[in-house]
Amino acid sequence: MFEHDAVDVEQRALTGALPPRSHVAELVAEAHARYAGLDEGEVADYIPVLGAADPARFGLSVVDIEGTSHEVGGVGDTFSIQSISKAFVFALVCEELGHEAVHDRVGVNNTGLAFNSVMAIELNGGSPMNPMVNAGAIATTALVPAASAEERWELVRGGLSRFAGRELELDNTVYRSEAETNHRNRAIGRLLQSYGRLDPDPLETVDVYTRQCALSVTAHDLAVMGATLAAGGVNPATGEQVVSAEVCRDTLTVLASCGMYERSGEWLFEIGLPAKSGVSGGIVAVAPGKGAVGTYSPLLDPAGNSIRGQRACAYLSRALGLNLFASIHRGASELEASHV
Ligand code: DON
Repeated sequence: MFEHDAVDVEQRALTGALPPRSHVAELVAEAHARYAGLDEGEVADYIPVLGAADPARFGLSVVDIEGTSHEVGGVGDTFSIQSISKAFVFALVCEELGHEAVHDRVGVNNTGLAFNSVMAIELNGGSPMNPMVNAGAIATTALVPAASAEERWELVRGGLSRFAGRELELDNTVYRSEAETNHRNRAIGRLLQSYGRLDPDPLETVDVYTRQCALSVTAHDLAVMGATLAAGGVNPATGEQVVSAEVCRDTLTVLASCGMYERSGEWLFEIGLPAKSGVSGGIVAVAPGKGAVGTYSPLLDPAGNSIRGQRACAYLSRALGLNLFASIHRGASELEASHV
């Protein structure tokens, strides 16, 4: 789907910094203009209330590690964070329990299957596989150290709010709509319990997970949350150290391999950035040491990833020189000069 995305700006190699601010603003405006008219894809409706989303909505925000934002379109439109919450709950749990524990309990490998696959659990002997699919996210939420479901929810809400730099609130309509219809996630919770992979009550854990997915955010919030992961865990808007730099590294690694589900390889090949999507239409893509892109557009591809969001990220990755895997050969004289 990316073959028409050739950009006429120079393909920049990694520079260690974003281009000058006026240039970033111009390219963000260009990315929005290019894809605002793209009407491919479907709005998700397996959570009934999401089916009412306006397909014309499109917000695009870039926030750098100093907290400067460049934004176009509906960047203040609210939507439920959905699966994007998984990245930040994972970071909070890594901060509490450490690298080894989350690796052992949840896993870090892609399933190659859909985000809500039950078969993936069965094929892998009960392992939830990674924290970005529903099974792994439910298992991760269960690891938030708390004495009750209510306390677990408050820790999740408070933690995600620190990433966003403002108090995030529950969208009750989305929560109720999903809670009334999430039989599959409840089955996943029970299945994980049957394999001894979930310590707290599975239905209470799925309920906390459902609430975390129904937190209301904007494209700007996503960019700030992503920029916090890009900045060694320091929120560039508030200056607060939310998680450690090591946790950011681990979280971004899992996003690179699993954040875009069974399309993660294709995404990395085309865009070269760790990212996470949500079924209500959000995407956050993170450029470590530089900043993050937050997008909102509810028209999705069959894997559940926003189409305009993917295109805008692809364009900005090339135009801003964000691809992690890009390099240029430095000439011999330049290398000699750097060694004196
Ligand atoms: O559990 C679910 O199915 C939703 N609350 C979240 C799924 C989601 O966002 C998948 N993303 N593309």
